[in-house]
Amino acid sequence: MKRIAILVSGRGSNFEAIARNIRAGKLEAEIAAVIANNPEAKALDTARDLGLNAILLPSKGIDTDTYAAQVVAALAPLEIDLICLAGFMRRVGQPLLDAYAQRILNIHPSLLPSFPGLHVQQQALDYGVKFSGCTVHFVDAGLDTGPIVAQAAVPILDDDTADTLAARILVEEHKIFTEAVKLVLSGNYRIEGRRVVATRYLRAGSSSS
Ligand code: GRF
Repeated sequence: MKRIAILVSGRGSNFEAIARNIRAGKLEAEIAAVIANNPEAKALDTARDLGLNAILLPSKGIDTDTYAAQVVAALAPLEIDLICLAGFMRRVGQPLLDAYAQRILNIHPSLLPSFPGLHVQQQALDYGVKFSGCTVHFVDAGLDTGPIVAQAAVPILDDDTADTLAARILVEEHKIFTEAVKLVLSGNYRIEGRRVVATRYLRAGSSSS
């Protein structure tokens, strides 16, 4: 069984969606650890309630690379195949990128490369785009720049606020993150330049919602 670690900072709905899909048999994987950098993260309580290995590793006042080394040390004994950043609000330092090269995924609530960074639903509204959405990508040293594994588009309505748009995008996030994890854990892909190309269709009927 492939083993994933999930890094969170807050609410943790993407983490919950992955946990739910695993329990429903839609994703074959085990959550070996949930690491929160923020003691207030609701996701920590959820992880404990689910009986998962919930680890609080506070990042406040710690520089990016030192913190990344601490995460590497915490994960080392757990034999992790893939790290999922699910609302993890810190940059990922080099020690983590080196230890898990092309084995870290992030979910971002816009159609990258449009609107990297923070407050992206508001950025999309302010720019006036008619579609936004969400992206799962490999994490590299840049800000939301790694090769894209999955995306979903969401139309922007005339009366959308950042909150209503975020809520509709979140529904899609909960679907594509599991799909992306499934593809990457299957190993049935290759990275050609910036493109992530599936090398074999996943088993019919194995897609999740
Ligand atoms: C999501 O919108 C995710 O795309 C972004 O942060 C938010 C986290 O939400 N990176 P949750 O903690 O998974 O509910």
